[in-house]
Amino acid sequence: MKRTKIKDLLQWEPQNQEVTVMGWTRTFRNNQFISLNDGSTIQNLQIVVDYTKFPEELLKRIHTGTSLKIEGILVPSQGKNQKSEVLAQSIEILGDCPAEEYPLQPKKHSLEFLREIAHLRLRTTTFQSVFRIRNGLAFAIHQFFQNKGFVYIHSPIITSSDAEGAGEMFQVTTLDLNNVPKDENGKVDYSQDFFGKAANLTVSGQLEAELGAMSFSEVYTFGPTFRAENSNTPRHLAEFWMIEPEMAFYDLNDNMDLAEEMLKYLIEYTLKNYPEELQFLQQRQLEEEKQKPQNERNTMPLIEKLEFCIKEPFERLSYTKAIEILENSSYNKKKKFQFPVKWGMDLQTEHERYLVEKEFQKPVILTDYPKEIKAFYMRQNEDGKTVRAMDILFPGIGEIIGGSQREERYELLYQRMKEMNISTEEMYWYLDTRRFGTVPHSGFGLGFERLVLFCTGMSNIRDVIPFPRTPKNCAF
Ligand code: 4AD
Ligand code: MG
Repeated sequence: MKRTKIKDLLQWEPQNQEVTVMGWTRTFRNNQFISLNDGSTIQNLQIVVDYTKFPEELLKRIHTGTSLKIEGILVPSQGKNQKSEVLAQSIEILGDCPAEEYPLQPKKHSLEFLREIAHLRLRTTTFQSVFRIRNGLAFAIHQFFQNKGFVYIHSPIITSSDAEGAGEMFQVTTLDLNNVPKDENGKVDYSQDFFGKAANLTVSGQLEAELGAMSFSEVYTFGPTFRAENSNTPRHLAEFWMIEPEMAFYDLNDNMDLAEEMLKYLIEYTLKNYPEELQFLQQRQLEEEKQKPQNERNTMPLIEKLEFCIKEPFERLSYTKAIEILENSSYNKKKKFQFPVKWGMDLQTEHERYLVEKEFQKPVILTDYPKEIKAFYMRQNEDGKTVRAMDILFPGIGEIIGGSQREERYELLYQRMKEMNISTEEMYWYLDTRRFGTVPHSGFGLGFERLVLFCTGMSNIRDVIPFPRTPKNCAF
């Protein structure tokens, strides 16, 4: 099955070379022009068909979606949209695609509709662009950390601990749900379960990454994580990918520096390697924006927004200062926030977006959150009220990264776990890191899909992961 990829072929000078290409028909116009795509690039190749030379029965079978093998000659194009095109000498149909049944037609489909046919939406230019960028970002993440000498650690997917202590876990069991064994107190008898204890899908690889950092000093994880939170929003998935670096000998400032450098590296990587995809997505976004009411529109086109984020240093301020700003904002005074602003509250997306999009107009890093709204492992500040947390907030996204300096002092960590009802017996291995050669250390978690959302200008997280898992939805 020798063929030339369309991406390579489009780079060549057309000189009547004999070529073989294979791909899927995007459109077939006037019984004359086939627009062929093989996924090597978002560009299509124009195939020119002299219909007098081919049987009518054959040409009738060519529709959107039909897969073809074409042999022909590469010539300069007569049309203005492309440099070269292929004059077909032979056409072989590899697979028919009946037009009346094929859901993808050469017209604009809504993203909602395409979500319902996620098994086919990969074949559209929009999703080819999104997933090519997603692929590039995954590669760039490894490149960034590998260049710095970080060690990639595979944290387990099945675990018996709740890393975030938030109880949003999917249980993993082989017990017969129609006949669950109970102990004498009427509780589920997990000793009869596969692992001999209760198990769940991981919500975060952080705790295991910390174990790695206590040996290699700089590590990262990059894997799937699962949250059984019932959040039906454009920014939450039940299954998402997370990158979690963890570093010994880093305080919160070092942590913020690394996170900012990483985000800028990844955005720059996208700009450099995916100009065609970004152009396409930018155009798509501009058209989508036109449908929205004026005040909800994005003011900056995608490429400009990405460039802007690399140029400016991120704004850094404390949670307490941010609450002051929000309280004094005209937005708050005019009661435009759905959730009233008050010190101690968890910031809602509307507050995060106000800070980023209205107040500072650039990415913002908030630090030192109230300890009540953050996880048990964060380092406690002298004030007794706040912890060394950091969240990075991005335009159009809200929180893209959450992280902290970790509590490295055994006594304080132990106490906090007791206060928060986290079993110190079950988690003895985590506490051991603080007993055996503890060091100041920090880390953060980047939500991969939120990064892809930002870099592609898509607006729903379900459109940046091939097969999204959300409440009441586990198709494909
Ligand atoms: O803020 P989170 O919950 O932090 C942690 O899990 C820490 N263990 C990270 C660490 O310090 N190593 O999650 C981190 C990031 C969020 O900022 C967000 O980008 C993403 O993960 N995230 C989600 N993305 C999609 N769907 C969800 N349901 C998400 N929950 C968190
Ligand atoms: Mg968070």
